[in-house]
Amino acid sequence: MNVIRFSDLCANGSAKGQRVFIRADLNVPQDVDGHITEDTRIRASVPCIQMALEAGAAVMVTSHLGRPTEGDFQPADSLAPVAKRLGELLGREVPVLSNWVDGVSVEPGQLVMLENCRVNKGEKKNAPELAHKLAALCDIFVHDAFGTAHRAEGTTYGIAQFAPIACAGPLLAAEIDAISKALANPKRPLAAIVAGSKVSTKLTILKSLANNVDQLIVGGGIANTFMLAAGLNIGKSLAEPDLLDQAKAVIEIMKARGAEVPIPTDVVTAKTFAADAVATVKKATEVADDDLILDIGPETAAKLAAQLKAAGTIVWNGPVGVFEFAAFENGTKVIAQAIAESSAFSIAGGGDTLAAIAKYGIEKQMGYISTGGGAFLEVLEGKTLPAFEILMKRAAG
Ligand code: 3PG
Repeated sequence: MNVIRFSDLCANGSAKGQRVFIRADLNVPQDVDGHITEDTRIRASVPCIQMALEAGAAVMVTSHLGRPTEGDFQPADSLAPVAKRLGELLGREVPVLSNWVDGVSVEPGQLVMLENCRVNKGEKKNAPELAHKLAALCDIFVHDAFGTAHRAEGTTYGIAQFAPIACAGPLLAAEIDAISKALANPKRPLAAIVAGSKVSTKLTILKSLANNVDQLIVGGGIANTFMLAAGLNIGKSLAEPDLLDQAKAVIEIMKARGAEVPIPTDVVTAKTFAADAVATVKKATEVADDDLILDIGPETAAKLAAQLKAAGTIVWNGPVGVFEFAAFENGTKVIAQAIAESSAFSIAGGGDTLAAIAKYGIEKQMGYISTGGGAFLEVLEGKTLPAFEILMKRAAG
């Protein structure tokens, strides 16, 4: 990917004394009291910030947090908890500045956090007036927000149009390099696990993967729809009967290529959706009308695990069962362990997937863990994200 890399600017001394504006994705989950419950994105943003400080730049970092109303800042929108956590990781105070669009006071060697960029009027729709003001704040704009790379907003696109230099931060560059490596020339067999509640939200990704992967492992509500398409009874399980033709089309595309969508041969069912519901393992052909399928069965999990262990490349998005409930976590756990034990290059993305990776402690065995949710899926679909489109344009001059 032909983009200017911030690491090169730091290495050749071009960032020294410069005003550097870093757009990070620090959009992390918080509990009702505002405590951060998962800080992967904050930790992932540290190398870029450290690189800028070590290069002697005057550093501004901003992010969105949630989806606030523009022009109507509320205390819950504040990046203050994020700045606190970042400060702990960096071992220094990170002051948060509000109302910063018209000017920021920051000296070389200093770091400031600019309050939630989505409260600025014009951010979401990338208003040209805001974009020019953002660009005027810096000498170098660094896009390091992979999780927001699929959005063309003021701080992710507009500023890149007009800043003197617009480049990719180390996280953004690493994400695209890793995903490209996984999909452009993947070591075969290439297995993809796409799970989640609905086929409809992942239909484009399923279709695009169907043309490329050797095994397309489906899970969750998506698997239920595929089981229905294969003529199986799924009881009262979550599924989208109106998408049966689409599911059949995916199966056909795979079949025509000599590849497959493995349909579960056994499942774990319950009568209610609850952590303490009684779990029953059944053959996929024996699901009753009042059953809810909440996980794949042990036979299916073992078969999929064997395929994953033999894979050359694995892409993982979504747990295959309700892994939050102990009685229905086995499928996801077996899949996670198989990925960890496989010699395949493995790449994962999406909030639930990251939670499963953390739960089973397999972070170190993953080839690459993406900070992107929607952005990760759009790259897998083969789309050029706005972040890369504008950075390539700027690199071309
Ligand atoms: C995400 O959480 O996927 C990113 O931070 C993007 O957030 P958005 O969907 O609100 O743009």
